[in-house]
Amino acid sequence: MKKAKLFAAGSAAAAAAAATASAAVFIKKKGICVPCLLRRGTAAVQMRASTGKKYDNGLALTPPMGWSCWNLFQHRVNEKLIYEMAVALKESGLADAGYQYVNLDDCWQSSMRDRDGRLTGDLSRFPSGIPDLVQKVNALGLKLGIYSSNGTLTCEDLPASLGNEALDAETFAQWGVEYLKYDFCHNIPLPTRAPDIDKISISAVGSSDELVFEAENGQLFGMARIEKDDQLESGKYVTGLCSGNGKLYFPDIPVPEDGEYVLTIGIRKGGDMEKYLEIKVNDTEVYDLLVPATKGWTHEGRMQLRVFLKAGSNSMILYNPIGSRYDSAIRQYTKMGELLKRASAKVAEETGKPEKKIVFSICEWGRNLPYKWGAEAGNLWRTTPDIQANWASIMGIYEINVHLWKYAGPGGWNDPDMLEVGNGNLTLTENVAHFSLWCMMAAPLLLGNDLRRFVVDGKADTSNPVLKILANKDLIAIDQDPLGIPCRRVYTNGIIDVLARPLKGNRLAVCFLNKALNSMRVKIRLSELAEKPDFAFPAADKYFVRDAWSGEETVTTDEIKGSVPSHGVRVYVVEQHHGE
Ligand code: GLA
Repeated sequence: MKKAKLFAAGSAAAAAAAATASAAVFIKKKGICVPCLLRRGTAAVQMRASTGKKYDNGLALTPPMGWSCWNLFQHRVNEKLIYEMAVALKESGLADAGYQYVNLDDCWQSSMRDRDGRLTGDLSRFPSGIPDLVQKVNALGLKLGIYSSNGTLTCEDLPASLGNEALDAETFAQWGVEYLKYDFCHNIPLPTRAPDIDKISISAVGSSDELVFEAENGQLFGMARIEKDDQLESGKYVTGLCSGNGKLYFPDIPVPEDGEYVLTIGIRKGGDMEKYLEIKVNDTEVYDLLVPATKGWTHEGRMQLRVFLKAGSNSMILYNPIGSRYDSAIRQYTKMGELLKRASAKVAEETGKPEKKIVFSICEWGRNLPYKWGAEAGNLWRTTPDIQANWASIMGIYEINVHLWKYAGPGGWNDPDMLEVGNGNLTLTENVAHFSLWCMMAAPLLLGNDLRRFVVDGKADTSNPVLKILANKDLIAIDQDPLGIPCRRVYTNGIIDVLARPLKGNRLAVCFLNKALNSMRVKIRLSELAEKPDFAFPAADKYFVRDAWSGEETVTTDEIKGSVPSHGVRVYVVEQHHGE
């Protein structure tokens, strides 16, 4: 402790601060043995490790439904097109069927941020601005979604949010956007290296007085250790904070009142690598710091950030938890998710208007096993590479996603990508199968086709076969079932798959998928499915079976059977039959 001048000399707070600071020195002088610290450190780490806590922003209790411009229009978007699509969503009856989000994907942005550093819509394709579009879409009773990337640029090389997360989250919330798809192009993983630290100091905003804590007087955990460097004023620094291996802990940082303070971290310059540090304050707030590759005439670097401290004693832990690209993706996505929650709450507080919460759609294509952590970071997570409007792509994606059923549920969904129904060279039978599989898997239903085709003279063209698929109430009800349990593949021989999905009210959705080039007859005994303990589908003498595509209703004692066209499905909703 070199200086303790944060507060007016002679004040009670100054005395308290000085006392605490010297207490810290005193503890150090008494010499807490390293093994004790290690043990305590380990316990603390476990407490702070993944809590398994859901993202829980109260949204997406069933898979989100809407439309996105990417699959069909890609970069060919403008405000007129998006608005026309919102109108078509309404006039086609699809909005009433549950499709609520109108999502901009890549290429809505100008290549230029505005003077305040904010993202802005393409200046000539969205000349009225995104907030104006939000208002118009909201006036139709629909919600606007937007897109950015967890990278320096988007996949189409336009400005993205890495490094600007707080500002962009705030911008989206201020615009009234209610869905963010957050891609992974141009991502830069967080460094696993941590800076060496020689001291930290706290000062009141606008004050030159710094309350200084020498790093060597902090408590050290794990691999953290003190090294000497004569070129530093203190002569010593703490190292070993890399890759989650060590922590530097200050248990008692006293300040006089609640508020924002400047935290200055004294780093030892050197090394041609970027470094990363997290600072956890009072075991709740986590701040982060990217330290550039540093070299210079001087050895002592000062990295500053604003932190919120509470009156009295505060604790601070400095560490770098990033051991891999996997850790980095989790941290970066979790950060954006948290910022979105805060941003929408802040806007509501400032405007006094009801909060417009933001669905957070993680889109890192399944690279870092997002199904394992996505439910803690957001509302849905892409599990696969990009979909294309052909049967091979749909089958490839289905094969990956169908295994992941156990990770999804209300509030957090596997996302096998947006629908291609109505696009490309998919046949009607394939469109039916694609839609059915996505409903069975409890996938988000984001339409990707031109909805204007469904409307004639301002009215729904109910004879349109693609509209009939997308508006099928039985299938939508399967997708949106409140239990939120995706299907499981209960049988496959590589050509025929049988999927079963428990539904509310002890019902079961059963789907036969035929991947062969000719039609096939398929049958299954319901008594076999009833034996599966976690299906909550009781065995019965008779079952009532509704064909979800034809609407045909039958009663069976056990078997359901049907002929399944090539690249097609049959979907049934089954329940115990109570009548005669
Ligand atoms: C990635 C995503 C796609 C789409 C494009 C836009 O490829 O996976 O869904 O958003 O970027 O550039």
